[in-house]
Amino acid sequence: MRPLFLAVFGGLAIVVVAVSAFLLLRDRPTGPAPGGTQVIVEDANLIGGPFVLTDENGNRFTDADALGKPTAIFFGFSHCPDVCPTTLYELSVLLGQLGADADRLNVLFVSVDYERDGPEEVAAYTSVFDPRIVGLAGTAEEIAAATSAYRVYYEKIPLENGGYTIDHTASVYLMDSDGRFVGTLAHGENMAVRLQKLQALIADA
Ligand code: NI
Repeated sequence: MRPLFLAVFGGLAIVVVAVSAFLLLRDRPTGPAPGGTQVIVEDANLIGGPFVLTDENGNRFTDADALGKPTAIFFGFSHCPDVCPTTLYELSVLLGQLGADADRLNVLFVSVDYERDGPEEVAAYTSVFDPRIVGLAGTAEEIAAATSAYRVYYEKIPLENGGYTIDHTASVYLMDSDGRFVGTLAHGENMAVRLQKLQALIADA
């Protein structure tokens, strides 16, 4: 059993860390994306939460299925011309650099394009980059709930040819094995820094 003062100081440390994270993250964009989109993180404790989606095999996949391992989760869409393919490619490179430790991490790609991306589309798309990246799809309501939980911005933008693109948050969210938000990988961030963040995430799990 831990002595009481350790429990108290442990609790205080968590509060101090949480407050520090709040102050550091408050009103600071985690990374502007092409097209001028950005996410403002107002409170780290507000990122993450329950979601119900469908995996590449058509099976239900919830936030509970990701617990037990830390998770890198990214929201995008398979028709994305720039941010998504770049990010997924870079995640595949990072998985390679992690070596055997990559098995200790969930990497999830959630498509916010519920009109065009179903389980088959996200399966085909993620397999282009790395089979360890799990594609997730959902209905309009499920995507609304998941993006709300993660404070992810996305907006459908009509194109002149009658199609559409989607502006969306470009950051990868890092969650610990209990599903708590611990940080982000920013779009365009130094790859060595991103690798260190993933290694720390895995080591702390
Ligand atoms: Ni994208």
